[in-house]
Amino acid sequence: MTRFTDVASWRREREAQRRRGETLGVVPTMGALHDGHLSLVRRSLAENARTLVTIFVNPTQFDQRSDFDRYPTALTADMALLESEGVDAVFVPDARELYPDDYRYRVVETTLSARLEGACRPGHFDGVLTVVLKLLNIADADRAYFGEKDWQQLVLVREMTDAFFLRTLIVGCPTVREDSGLALSSRNLRLSAAERLQAAELYRALVTTQTPDAAAQALRAAGFVVDYVEEWRGRRLGAVRLGDVRLIDNVPLEEQ
Ligand code: PAJ
Repeated sequence: MTRFTDVASWRREREAQRRRGETLGVVPTMGALHDGHLSLVRRSLAENARTLVTIFVNPTQFDQRSDFDRYPTALTADMALLESEGVDAVFVPDARELYPDDYRYRVVETTLSARLEGACRPGHFDGVLTVVLKLLNIADADRAYFGEKDWQQLVLVREMTDAFFLRTLIVGCPTVREDSGLALSSRNLRLSAAERLQAAELYRALVTTQTPDAAAQALRAAGFVVDYVEEWRGRRLGAVRLGDVRLIDNVPLEEQ
C-alpha cells in the first residue's frame, strides 16, 4: 500500500494506472476508521481494479472549533486496517496541500444545504462540498463511495457532481449498524458505555414511531436534546445530542 501526501505524486500514479487501463474507486474519509468505512472500501475493491482511500479531517466543515479539536485520529491503526483489506493507495494530505487558496474559493449550494444538518451547523456543507470537489478532482476516479448514514451529504454530493458535470459516479452504500441498531460513527468513540446503550434509542425511535413528532418526543423522554426529526427525500432523518456528542441517523420511510 502506498501513502501519498501530495497531489502531484498521486497524479503521476493515476496516470500510470490509466495507461494500464485500470479503473479506480475512491473512498473519502476523515479517518478513525470503523466497519462502516470498511464497507465502502470493500465495495470499491470489488468494483474497481484499484482503490484509493483519502484520510483528511477537513477543518472547513466543522462549525465548532472544539468539535474539530476533539475529532478522533488513529492514523497508524487506520493504515494497518486498510493494508489488511488490500487497499492500493492512501491519500493523506495536510491542510496546506488541499487549501492553497486558504478557502477563498468554495462551493456553495444555496437551497438544500440550509436545511437539517445545514441549519444546525452553518457553513458545514460548504466545507463538505468544497473538499469533496477537490478530492474528486484529485483522485480522478471512476466511482466514489459515500454512506447513506450521511443522507443529506450523499444527496448534495450526488447533485453537485451532476451540476458540475463531473465524470465520477457517486455510489451510495447502506448504513452499517451495531447489533443494538446504533449506526457506527467515529464520534461513538467519545460515548461512555452507558451513553452507547442510550444512543441506540435514536435508531429505535426513528423506526418504531408513527410521526416525526412522536419520534422527537420519544427521544426527549429518553434523555436526548433533539436538534430535528424530519422526513425528507424518502427518509426519516434525526439529529440528537447526548452530552457534548452529536449523533445523526436516518432510515428509509418504508422501514417504519
Ligand atoms: P466520515 O465521517 O469519515 O465518513 C466517510 C464516509 O463513510 C462517508 O461517506 C460516510 O457516510 C460513511 N460512513 C460513516 N459511517 C458509516 C456507517 N455506519 N455505515 C456506512 N457508511 C458510513 O463523511 C465524511 O467523513 C466527510 O464529510 C467527507 C465526505 C470525508 C468529507 O470531508
